[in-house]
Amino acid sequence: MPRPTTISIDLDALSLNAASTRKLAGNSRILASVKANAYGHGMIPCGQKLCEFVDGFAVAFCEEAVALRKAGIDLPILLLEGPFDRCDVDAIHEYGVMMTVHCHQQIDLLEQSGHPLTAPVWIKIDSGMHRLGFNPAEAPQIEKRLRELGAQSITLVSHYADGEHPHSALTQKQQQVWRSLKKSTPSQTSMANSAGVINDLDTAATWIRPGIMLYGAAHTAAETTVSFEPVMTFNSEVMALRKITAGESVGYGGRWRAARDSLIATIPVGYGDGYPRTAIDGTPVWLQGRRLPLAGRVSMDMITVDVTDLPNCQIGAPVELWGKHLAVNEVAEYAGTIGYELLTRMTGRAPMSFVP
Ligand SMILES: Cc1ncc(COP(=O)(O)O)c(C=O)c1O
Repeated sequence: MPRPTTISIDLDALSLNAASTRKLAGNSRILASVKANAYGHGMIPCGQKLCEFVDGFAVAFCEEAVALRKAGIDLPILLLEGPFDRCDVDAIHEYGVMMTVHCHQQIDLLEQSGHPLTAPVWIKIDSGMHRLGFNPAEAPQIEKRLRELGAQSITLVSHYADGEHPHSALTQKQQQVWRSLKKSTPSQTSMANSAGVINDLDTAATWIRPGIMLYGAAHTAAETTVSFEPVMTFNSEVMALRKITAGESVGYGGRWRAARDSLIATIPVGYGDGYPRTAIDGTPVWLQGRRLPLAGRVSMDMITVDVTDLPNCQIGAPVELWGKHLAVNEVAEYAGTIGYELLTRMTGRAPMSFVP
């Protein structure tokens, strides 16, 4: 009998989220971020589904783009980090992929490759995140150099460092830089990720680049009128129940100690599957229709939950680690991380199925 720990990917929810994103996008084209295996949701099935709703895809590096092309996806694809070496430049040419250029060395690579520069080029501008990109003042000179190399289609792209906080000094500063750059260029532009779209920060751009909102795990603004649903649900079942007396501890290191006589349910899921080991006692687990507290350290293959207050808990009772009833972001907060990390670091051990 297979272990009852599974991951279910709801492709209808993905469609709903993409349609909601489309409503928020205005006239901007949508470049769906499907990097890191579509944030752990399965890049190919999600990419194929999203083709009905979006105008292109964003991936981190060349191998991800090639995998999409080999699966028959022929919408535009952008390499967010651009080419790393000459092989990438060849692949960009062969597979017809759009590329970011964020530094002079990448432009040198393009020049040395001997390929005509037919692919659209996205010039990465550092508007304040200070991770990648050219200084805004350099933009005209970079654009000129790329046009001399034959580039026909140029887009200026930048990225919010703190888009979840539209009023923060950092966001305000980035917006200011971006607005003045946009005034001085006829090129296409792209700035907003999910937080930028949800908080309406420069959506009047040629392209938006949503990721996490498509998977139903963005922090949506209270006034958002469209709905989003979690796409991933991480399920299991109760495999064992054990009574312990007040004062006894549960799990590695005896971290959780029973304050009263207690009933503990053991669930066959652990950090070997992607459930975070850093989850603290009290992390909510949805079990037999109720939110109940994690009790004891997460093991490689098991977790333990205090079900003392659950009437009639049964072996085989359904458990949701995160998904439709329990937001991944809430579990992430208890584990000292973010939903993005939990979703993208699923280990592949629990089988994933796609619905419908
Ligand atoms: C450059 C860039 N654009 C867009 C995205 C999508 O961001 P989000 O998933 O927050 O919408 C990312 C994600 O990390 C990114 O690095």
